[in-house]
Amino acid sequence: MTAALAQAPHQVGRIADRLGVILSQRGISPDAAALEPQAEPVTALELADARIPARYRYALADHPHVTAWVNEIARTGRPGPAGAPGISEGPSLLIAGPTGTGKTHQAYGAIRALLAAGVRLRWEAVTAADLYARLRPRSGHDAERELQTMAKCPLLLLDDLGAAKTSEWTEELTYRLINHRYEHLRPTLITTNLPTADLRTALGDRVASRLAEMTERVILDGPDRRRARPSA
Ligand SMILES: Nc1ncnc2c1ncn2[C@@H]1O[C@H](COP(=O)(O)OP(=O)(O)O)[C@@H](O)[C@H]1O
Ligand SMILES: [Mg+2]
Repeated sequence: MTAALAQAPHQVGRIADRLGVILSQRGISPDAAALEPQAEPVTALELADARIPARYRYALADHPHVTAWVNEIARTGRPGPAGAPGISEGPSLLIAGPTGTGKTHQAYGAIRALLAAGVRLRWEAVTAADLYARLRPRSGHDAERELQTMAKCPLLLLDDLGAAKTSEWTEELTYRLINHRYEHLRPTLITTNLPTADLRTALGDRVASRLAEMTERVILDGPDRRRARPSA
């Protein structure tokens, strides 16, 4: 809601100054940030830095479809307790493309851009392979509770969907997770190596059909950025 995003001009200026200092200390041009900071970005970004894998800690979402999704989520979020926008319902984003094209980079960049915009969000990020490993039944571990946490958190990054070996068990877990987020319109960032046509084979028709309806799609292409790096 636009009203919820409104800040006193001097407050926005102060926050932008602080963010600019932090970004330039990290070698990032403040102009490259996807969104103007709106509220408490420094604290939220610093907290996020501790949870984001080091490789993606300073990732910037620079793909226009990703920044458009970030803007849409930031714009439509309901105000949270302190008046800052929060995430409730919204579209999801499927980032597809071959290995090394920057899918995970864009996904963490999107989370960072939302935090920089002052959106108050609880978020979880996990690769599909790690999720299946974590949910495997073992004594003393409440896998059902973990699945519920992932299903219900306001923003979920499910990375590399379709890359792990599948079985009836993984298909059922993926279905329960995606179906919950589908039914409750929970914004979900999904990355996958699979072309759309193969998603159905790998994930089953129930998941593929829900993803078709709930996600906006971004296709990344180009060379594998890991192999394209100039050798030292
Ligand atoms: N837009 C970008 N700017 C700079 N580095 C990038 C960008 N996108 C990806 N990278 C880097 O390229 C490598 C591969 O990106 P990654 O997101 O892991 O690829 P994918 O998830 O598609 O396999 C990583 O080292 C990442 O930090
Ligand atoms: Mg990746």
